[in-house]
Amino acid sequence: MVTTLFQSGADGACLVVLERGAVRSYALGAQALWTIGRRTPEHAPDISFDSPIVSREQGEFFASGGQWFYCDGGSRNGTFYNDVKIWAGYRVKSKPVPLSSGDVLRVDRRDASLADPRGVWMYFSAAPIRGVWRYYPLAGRTSTVIGRDAARCDIVQPLAYISGQHARIVARDGQFWLSDCGSKAGTWLNGRPLRKETCLGEKDHICLCDCHFIFADGGLIYNDRGQPSPREQGGDPRQGDVMLRADIRSKKVRDLNGHGEKELIRDVTLEIRSGELIALLGGSGAGKSTLMNCLNGTERSGVEGTVSFRGEDLYKNYDRLKCLVGNVPQQNVLNETLSVEQELRYAAKLRLPGDMSRDDIQRQVDKTLEVLDLQAKRKSPIRKLSGGEQKRVNIGVELVADRELLCLDEPDAGLDPHAKKELFTTLQHLAHERGKCVLAIIHDVSEIDMFDQIVMMVKVHEVGRLAFAGSPAEGRRRFQVTNLTEVYDLVQKEPEKYIVG
Ligand SMILES: Nc1ncnc2c1ncn2[C@@H]1O[C@H](COP(=O)(O)OP(=O)(O)OP(=O)(O)O)[C@@H](O)[C@H]1O
Ligand SMILES: [Mg+2]
Repeated sequence: MVTTLFQSGADGACLVVLERGAVRSYALGAQALWTIGRRTPEHAPDISFDSPIVSREQGEFFASGGQWFYCDGGSRNGTFYNDVKIWAGYRVKSKPVPLSSGDVLRVDRRDASLADPRGVWMYFSAAPIRGVWRYYPLAGRTSTVIGRDAARCDIVQPLAYISGQHARIVARDGQFWLSDCGSKAGTWLNGRPLRKETCLGEKDHICLCDCHFIFADGGLIYNDRGQPSPREQGGDPRQGDVMLRADIRSKKVRDLNGHGEKELIRDVTLEIRSGELIALLGGSGAGKSTLMNCLNGTERSGVEGTVSFRGEDLYKNYDRLKCLVGNVPQQNVLNETLSVEQELRYAAKLRLPGDMSRDDIQRQVDKTLEVLDLQAKRKSPIRKLSGGEQKRVNIGVELVADRELLCLDEPDAGLDPHAKKELFTTLQHLAHERGKCVLAIIHDVSEIDMFDQIVMMVKVHEVGRLAFAGSPAEGRRRFQVTNLTEVYDLVQKEPEKYIVG
């Protein structure tokens, strides 16, 4: 559902807790306040530890206005928040710190680089973390490889954007060293891209795209993406988790005519879930393309505000997360002399990890042809395809890389009503059956009920503003129309009246 930001923003947050090699995770949304502390016969905090260095009232997590905070409860040892100690005094509550995905909280007596066997560790994520958390012991192994290829890896993450062999940890001189195996998507260590082999320190955080690993207690704690979490397994893809959350206060560009700045869009807050097909509507120049490029991260400069992708700041982590986002431009980017299959094979080679085998690439191509209903055309030269078929191949170029979020700028331009409907059926299938999030800028609303949500932009005093976000049925109620085409005229006449936020 597209909702205004922070009405339900706090519900998906999760906390992963580590104590003596044992991992637990908590869905924080179940309650607004969680106490943490040492368990005693008389005292049972919501998140409890056995460690003697944790105080009985160590601290608390609480949600306020859709944002999660942590404050130290006046503990003996204080709490490290991303390696900065927060402590206001014994039995004095600290000032709350706002939490965002990737924040690490520790109770530790030692410096962060040393293992304190009594230390406890907590990892916050604003969105549910996919997969199941596991512990993989490294002790006794000289080399451990993480990657997609089950035959060549010890820890397997079967995701298209993960390289066959992606990262390696070797044991040397009693320590563990991490290196990237020349992967396409890269390896990140504590938020920074890994450039050379690096010695791992206790509680280091390793990321391969959106797969998380924590080096702790002589092993790796990680979210096993080959195993869908109970939530992912049972759920209707249309009731998916929040994929994108945007709180854009303003997007400005340098004014090409003068020396000042030009504001293109203002105050857009949105929440978009996996499994949804979303139409981005509005008159010409209302800021649709600008908004879409802010949401997919291709236009990051001049944006005041935040866009998060599954709870992680998309702009700060763009290089790591960009492999999950596909942008399909309005103009087809196809080599018309190639056959459909050849085009998709080239696109796959360009976008997918370099060590993907021919068979694996072919599997991706076949899957894409099937999803786009293009099997019968696989050998046809692109120039001989209809406009609608070409549009589908254009989408396939991104889809072949298994993107999670697909952004399409006017994919229906130039298509007749029948081809348009077929294209929207394909997009609907991608969202509803494959759990993708599909965001498309469209002008013609004759098939609008095929979309789950609409986002409407309106130009007010030369600035793009949000006029509506919700389902087509809610849109009709809000604007009191039976046909949404009438909305264009309505908002054109009195644009100010419809501004949201
Ligand atoms: N780099 C830029 N510098 C100055 N103005 C810009 C720039 N990019 C976009 N604009 C202006 O911002 C406004 C919004 O542009 P945008 O392309 O987002 O509109 P749109 O809703 O996608 O329109 P259309 O339906 O015509 O594609 C327009 O008035 C456009 O001229
Ligand atoms: Mg546009």
